[in-house]
Formats: sequence, structure tokens, C-alpha cells
Amino acid sequence: MKSFVFFLYFVVNCDCYNILGIFPYNGRSHHIYYSCVIEELVQRRHNVTVINYHPMPKLPNLHQISLQDAHNASDQVNIEEHLKVLSHSDLSMAYDSAKAFKYIANTNCRKLVNNQEVQELIRSAKHFDLVIVEQFVTDCGLAIAHKLNAPTIGMTAHILMSWTYSRLGAPNHPAFVPNHYFASGTKPNFFDRIKSVILNFGMNLYYTHVIQSSDQEIVNEVYPDMPLLEDLGRNISLIAINQYFPLTGSRLYGSNVVEVGGIHIKTNVSLEDKNLKTFLDAATDGVVYVSFGSVASNFPTRVTNEITKWFSNSKMRFVWKTDIKNWKPPSNVYISRWIEQVPVLCESRVVAFVSHSGMLSTSEAMHCGVPIVGVPLFGDQFANGRSAVESGLGVTVDVVTINAGILEDAVKTILSEKYQKQAKKLSQLWKDRPLSPMDTAIFWMEYVARNNGTVNMRPPTINLPLYQYLMIDVILFFGLIIIIMLYIVVKLFMALLRTFKINTKVKDTRYSIKTKKMK
Ligand SMILES: *[C@@H]1O[C@H](CO)[C@@H](O)[C@H](O)[C@H]1NC(C)=O
Ligand SMILES: *[C@@H]1O[C@H](CO)[C@@H](O)[C@H](O)[C@H]1NC(C)=O
Ligand SMILES: *[C@@H]1O[C@H](CO)[C@@H](O)[C@H](O)[C@H]1NC(C)=O
Ligand SMILES: *[C@@H]1O[C@H](CO)[C@@H](O)[C@H](O)[C@H]1NC(C)=O
Ligand SMILES: *[C@@H]1O[C@H](CO)[C@@H](O)[C@H](O)[C@H]1NC(C)=O
Repeated sequence: MKSFVFFLYFVVNCDCYNILGIFPYNGRSHHIYYSCVIEELVQRRHNVTVINYHPMPKLPNLHQISLQDAHNASDQVNIEEHLKVLSHSDLSMAYDSAKAFKYIANTNCRKLVNNQEVQELIRSAKHFDLVIVEQFVTDCGLAIAHKLNAPTIGMTAHILMSWTYSRLGAPNHPAFVPNHYFASGTKPNFFDRIKSVILNFGMNLYYTHVIQSSDQEIVNEVYPDMPLLEDLGRNISLIAINQYFPLTGSRLYGSNVVEVGGIHIKTNVSLEDKNLKTFLDAATDGVVYVSFGSVASNFPTRVTNEITKWFSNSKMRFVWKTDIKNWKPPSNVYISRWIEQVPVLCESRVVAFVSHSGMLSTSEAMHCGVPIVGVPLFGDQFANGRSAVESGLGVTVDVVTINAGILEDAVKTILSEKYQKQAKKLSQLWKDRPLSPMDTAIFWMEYVARNNGTVNMRPPTINLPLYQYLMIDVILFFGLIIIIMLYIVVKLFMALLRTFKINTKVKDTRYSIKTKKMK
């Protein structure tokens, strides 16, 4: 009896929810980001089911559905091939990404909706209080959430994709919103604004009519009664995004967009690797940490040669996350295929970070107060690098022309007092929040679950026709009034002019009569 009462107490008092996370993209960095959130939800006693590619540690109340098959571990970008496109133009790079996105979206979608366990989940009509769906290149996760008839929220591991703005009712305005695909920043010049318009328009058109419509076909093969994926996207309660304004700048959003940048950063971690710790402790002239992230693979030999040349010319110590083969590092270089990044960056001897400008790395640099030399390679990295420059966190260099001298100069720049001080200041700002990013995210997730997704946080802009949003009807109305008023004024003026003319004519005649008389 006692235990039954206790059980009842637990059931009544526990704000525990059945939560489903759908993360259908196999990139490693995305997984790192989302798995932190899933682990936290489990720790807070929610009953969590996760559909993803990378296995997570076994935890009570965590149920995993793996999409991984024998072939696919993690998505990789072949940098050697990519650099050929990169050296042409931003537009060709965007087209290249668009094609890559379609491949990723369709592959990920097919694996998701055809997965036996996922289909079983839908057949069982299990009740979920909340479904979290990644908002990247495929919307097929939204189809699963729809089938389960559960309140849905979105999450991104990066800045918003250009096609995500419209479903949130947030403006993706080329005059002040940094473009996702190149370094236009928050104050784009005239040519950047033109490029931004072309890129956003082209990418969104491609997304809607190629990527999303092919995904729709894949979903409809399994669930023929599925509504339009875009309509499902417009119905999500809110989205938690990997941005935070001290880095990415202040933006215009509705209440349905929550910034949780830095959510993946564990604040109390310490450096576990003893060898690395010894290496860092022995540094007298500062340490530079170098990493190009988890997705970049097959770096061109030219670039790696320049990096090693730079190392050999320097008195500083270097920690390099790399899978380079057949190279014996000199005594001032420590290499490893995988490095726990935050404890290294937060070590006091680490004074500079050479990075691909991924959002996870950039926010970690911000968190630890280490200035950054950005070497953007693909995706949102150009925009992130620009954000770092604008916030004063660092500088960027072009990977196409990079060499040992350029790297050395760039690092020398961020070693200056100006950058070191600014990085420390930004680190304080980054941590100075009403709630930690994790607490913020969890609050809003529980909020949506608690209210069964019924609270409307979406701004009315989501379903506003373009002519109303741009006020074209109102502008035309006032235009018409102005035209009518102008017409009336002109008519009045003409009428006045005529009477004036008649009057003067009358006067004239009198005058001429007078003059005639005088003659
Ligand atoms: C927790 O989730 C699993 C998997 O969805 C489900 O089988 C189980 O019934 C859930 N537990 C509770 C208490 O709802
Ligand atoms: C999946 O594996 C196949 C076979 O190895 C490969 O061709 C394909 O590029 C991989 N796809 C992804 C998305 O990693
Ligand atoms: C979106 O939400 C509205 C209001 O809750 C609902 O009427 C509509 O059917 C939903 N649309 C889709 C495609 O689920
Ligand atoms: C960090 O904090 C978490 C949660 O408070 C705790 O579980 C973990 O053991 C801590 N880790 C370290 C290295 O102190
Ligand atoms: C939550 O909303 C769904 C979909 O609108 C509805 O079917 C369900 O009955 C609601 N549940 C509760 C507990 O109100």
C-alpha cells in the first residue's frame, strides 16, 4: 500500500513526458549537438526515444532506433574535391551544396520512413507528449511526428537554413540578415545584397521544387495521405536554434524562435588525456589549437604541407586534430584523430584557435575566450567566420590561397592584446544569461509538452500572403488617394488659373480701354 501511494505520488508529481527525437542526418557534429540535449532530457527523468545514426551510451529511459546501416557511418565532405568548386565562386559553391543537399535529404528520408522500427512505432500509435525534429535538409521527420499526432518542435545544430525562415514567419531579409552561404555579414554592401537575393531565391526554389518535393514522393510511397511537408513545417510550435546574439548578432524573430547557442558545451569538464595535459603544461610560448572539424575529410596535400611548414617555423606549441598519415610530428606538435575540444580550448595556455568555423567550434571558442582564425570550408562556415569577425572574436583566411606565411600572420594578429582582451570579454558575455542554454531549451520543450502544443507562439507572418506582408494593397490604396488628391489639386489649380486669367483679361481690357482713352 505504502509503495502504491508512493507510486501514485511519483506519477502525479513527476512532470515526465514521453519524448521522441528524430535526427535523420548522419553528420557527426549534428549528433554531438543533439545527443547532449537527449542525455539531459533523460537525466531529467523523461522517457526518451531517439531516432538517429550514431549510437548513444545506454541509459535508463532512453530507447534508441538506429538508422545506421553497414555502409554509412558519418557524412563526410571531401575537401580536395570541394576546393575545386570553392575556387570558382560562391554561386557555383551554392549550386554544389544544393545538389549535395538533395542527395543527403533523399537518402536520409528514405532510410527514415522505410525503417522497420519507425514504422512499428507508428503502427503502435504510441503516445508522445513531444516530438523534436531536426530542421536541416529533410522534412521527413515531420511526417513521422504527424503520424504520431504529437506536439512538434524543431531544432537546428547551425544557423537557420534559408528555407526555414518562412515556416517560422521570420524575415530572411537580404538587407540585414547574413546570408547562410557566404560571408555577407550583418551589413552587406550593394553587391552582397544582390548576391544574397539571387542565392536565397535560387536555394529556396531548389529546396521547394526539387528537394522537398522529392522527399514528399518518398514519404507518400509509404504514407499516401501525408499532408504537404511544408504545411507540417509551418505548424511546428517553436524551434530551438544554435545561435546566440553576442556571436551571431541581434535578429528579428517571433516568440517561436529560441536561441540556445552553446547548449552542447559542458561547463565542468576537465582534460582527461594525460599526455595532452603534460604537453600543454610544458608550453612556455602559448599553444595554438588547430582543428577543421569532424566532417571535413581528405584535405589536399598542399594545405597540410603548408600547415606542417608553419609548425616547423614556429616556437609555439600546436595541438592538431587531424587524421594525417605518414608524418612524424616535431616535438612542438601534438596530433590526434579526435580531441575533446572544450577542455583544451579552456586551458589557460591555449591562446589561439585555427578552425573551420563550424558553429560548435566557434561557440566553444567564445565560451572559453580564445580568439579564432577562421578557415571556412563549406555550409554555414563562411557566415560563422564573418560573425566571428564582426563580434571581434577573430579573423578569417581563405582556404584557397592559404599558406604558412598567411597562417603565421593571422595567428600573430589574434595574439595581439586587442583580440585576447575582446575574446575574454566575449566569453563573459556568452555566459551571462538568465538561464543556461540547456535550461532554456528544456524549459521550452516541457512548456510545449505541458500545453500539448496548443499555445500559439507563431507570428501571424507565417500565413500572411506576400502582398499583405509587403503592404502592397495598403500602399496602392494610399497611392490611389494621393493620385486622386493630386488630380483634385490640379483641377482646382487649373480652375483657379482660368478664373485668374479671365479676371486679368477683364482687367487687361479695362486697362487697354483706359490706355486707349489716354491716347
Ligand atoms: C517509454 O518509451 C518506450 C518507448 O517508446 C515505451 O515502450 C514505454 O512504454 C514508455 N514508458 C512509459 C512509462 O510511458
Ligand atoms: C553511404 O554508403 C554508400 C556506400 O558506401 C556510399 O556510396 C554513400 O556515399 C554513403 N552515403 C552517405 C550519405 O554517407
Ligand atoms: C496545422 O494546424 C492547424 C491548427 O491547429 C490545423 O487546422 C491544420 O490542419 C494543421 N495542418 C497540418 C498540415 O497539419
Ligand atoms: C559535471 O556535472 C554533471 C551534472 O551536474 C555531473 O553528472 C558530472 O559528473 C560532472 N562532471 C565532472 C567532470 O565534474
Ligand atoms: C493533445 O492534442 C492532440 C492533437 O490535437 C489531441 O488529439 C489530444 O487529445 C490532446 N491531448 C490532451 C491531453 O489534451
